[in-house]
Amino acid sequence: MADNIVLIGFMGSGKTTIGLKLSYKLKKTFCDTDKMIEARERRTISEIFEQSGEDFFREKETLLLKEILCEDYAESRIFAVGGGTPLRAENRNLLKKLGTVVFLKVGPDTVYERLKEDRTRPLLQQGDALERIKMLLEQRAEVYEETADIIISCDTFSMDEVVRKIIDHIKKC
Ligand code: S3P
Repeated sequence: MADNIVLIGFMGSGKTTIGLKLSYKLKKTFCDTDKMIEARERRTISEIFEQSGEDFFREKETLLLKEILCEDYAESRIFAVGGGTPLRAENRNLLKKLGTVVFLKVGPDTVYERLKEDRTRPLLQQGDALERIKMLLEQRAEVYEETADIIISCDTFSMDEVVRKIIDHIKKC
């Protein structure tokens, strides 16, 4: 499974946009685990959080990763996973098994600017969004770094530049 590229990082770090661009450039299939969970559940992430709670969603993330790892899929793919997927130690191991893990590192101001109008991230809908982002980023920083094979600091780069950096890193690996 080592040829897969697995994008991790906080909400708004650009996992989906960069994953799609990578998929186009490298001619690999792109899979977004959030979208896969939504399709299976036939409800949005916000509805899942609201109706069934965060723990239920986290279970679905783990289950999906396990299922993907069991698939007999001939070609390598690009995966983008939810910002909270690496929080569980079990998931961190599953992500590492799945492929080369690339952490898209962004600061709180970048996230805030990108997501201040967004209503699809349940974890950022209560209270002061910038404060929530800062707190969650601080809680998660170590977990992201621990899981990553490659860390890309994204704040000052365009999405296309980040894609180029990832491709350069992957070639060197
Ligand atoms: C979450 C990130 C979201 C989604 C859910 C929880 C998180 O995905 O999985 O809202 O805990 O950081 P994105 O990182 O794609 O926004």
